[in-house]
Amino acid sequence: MLIHGDCRAVLPTLEPASFDACITDPPYGDTSLTWDRQVTGWIKGVSHALKPNACIWVFGSMRSLVGVFAEMEAAGFKYAQDIVWEKQNGSGFHNDRFRRVHEHVVQFYRGRWRELFRAPQMTNDARAKTVRRKKRPAHTGNIEAMAYTSVDGGPRLQRSVIRVANMHGRAIHPTEKPVELLVPLVRYSVPPGGRVIDPFAGSASTLVACDMAGVTGVGIERKAEYYVRANERLERGWPLLSVGPTPASKTEGGSEV
Ligand SMILES: C[S@@+](CC[C@H](N)C(=O)[O-])C[C@H]1O[C@@H](n2cnc3c(N)ncnc32)[C@H](O)[C@@H]1O
Repeated sequence: MLIHGDCRAVLPTLEPASFDACITDPPYGDTSLTWDRQVTGWIKGVSHALKPNACIWVFGSMRSLVGVFAEMEAAGFKYAQDIVWEKQNGSGFHNDRFRRVHEHVVQFYRGRWRELFRAPQMTNDARAKTVRRKKRPAHTGNIEAMAYTSVDGGPRLQRSVIRVANMHGRAIHPTEKPVELLVPLVRYSVPPGGRVIDPFAGSASTLVACDMAGVTGVGIERKAEYYVRANERLERGWPLLSVGPTPASKTEGGSEV
């Protein structure tokens, strides 16, 4: 479900303590472009809508997150962990700096960590390895005998650096985040049948990820154009994932895809 409006006005009207998590991507405010302005005051509203034991995942650049940390602390949220989204190519605003090919996603929480829903995510890419173990042979004089045991690869904990291609050429929003990046965040932090709020919904990627993970997503989007496009996307269903009918123009958002 998507709501059209300014999240700072909408959030206080939502049922209190009715969401398990917030997963969101506010404008970063990293450039002098008119649309790229950091929004303050939304964390208080999210705090009202979240359950006492709940978490917030926020996308951002290091610079945009400085202000977010301060607001989180004031609202009673603590830092939990951060992950890095590594893209295949970057969106450098400056050609005299390192080419920027990553973005941060930070998790904050309140309540007791032990009581917070956490479902560690696994990937199936542990490398197969051969372990060499010394055998203790019956005393034949051949003291160098070895046994070689092959240990297969298999599941391992998802790494904190997640490489997913960005949405260039496929996006319906200029800063659209790939659903493949959002699904592990939802599965990690939202119990089955749980509810997620995204106050900066953009193209509704978080809502699509929630749908794929079997939980309920509620989004808020201020700009009418994106609200309409996001609703069209949701109506098409997630088999089409992030493929949109028109290439996005660079008009609003936090960081380019
Ligand atoms: C960085 S984009 C989010 C992109 C989204 N993650 C996606 O994958 O499509 C931020 C969005 O927040 C919207 N926005 C900015 N200020 C807002 C506000 N006060 N309330 C609601 N939406 C807002 C912008 O119009 C923009 O679509």
